[in-house]
Amino acid sequence: MIKMIHSYWAYIVLIILIIAVVNALLGFTSKKEFNAKDLRISLFALIASHIQLIIGFLAYYNSAFYESMRSMGMGEVMKNSELRKPLVEHPLLIIVAIALITIGFSKHKKKTTDVAKFKTITIFYGIALLLILAVIPWNLWFTK
Ligand code: HEM
Repeated sequence: MIKMIHSYWAYIVLIILIIAVVNALLGFTSKKEFNAKDLRISLFALIASHIQLIIGFLAYYNSAFYESMRSMGMGEVMKNSELRKPLVEHPLLIIVAIALITIGFSKHKKKTTDVAKFKTITIFYGIALLLILAVIPWNLWFTK
């Protein structure tokens, strides 16, 4: 059940994050005014990713991969890329990505110009999106 929620919520996170990055990039390049809609899009992406972080932790401790780690030990997990990806690379790098989103959101609020706000969101959310895309276990996601 929790694995299914994690799998479906991932679509929501990716869609909102892509919208937030594209919106910020367009705002930055066309020097638009940073208005309430832009704030709302960035905030939704922040909230959706934080919800996924919590669901991710629940999925982690309920997953069959975690059971394998408990029986085989961490040393064996690190040697096996099929296990290392969902148990180590995916969670760790996504935590870094969500930290970047959080820092970006908090930094953009302190910026005094609209162009600086869009730039901050573009950079921090953009890097976070790339990190997330790099460590999604695509083989698990689309093999059902
Ligand atoms: C933006 C945040 C995240 C996204 C977009 C994301 C996305 C995904 C996707 C698409 C899958 C494959 C789902 C499937 O099997 O159908 C997955 C699996 C998994 N994720 Fe995440 N994830 C995120 C955060 C996390 C975090 C923070 C953790 C752990 C702390 C985590 C732990 C796992 C685990 C253990 C699996 C394998 C589940 C299993 O097959 O038993 N995820 N994730």
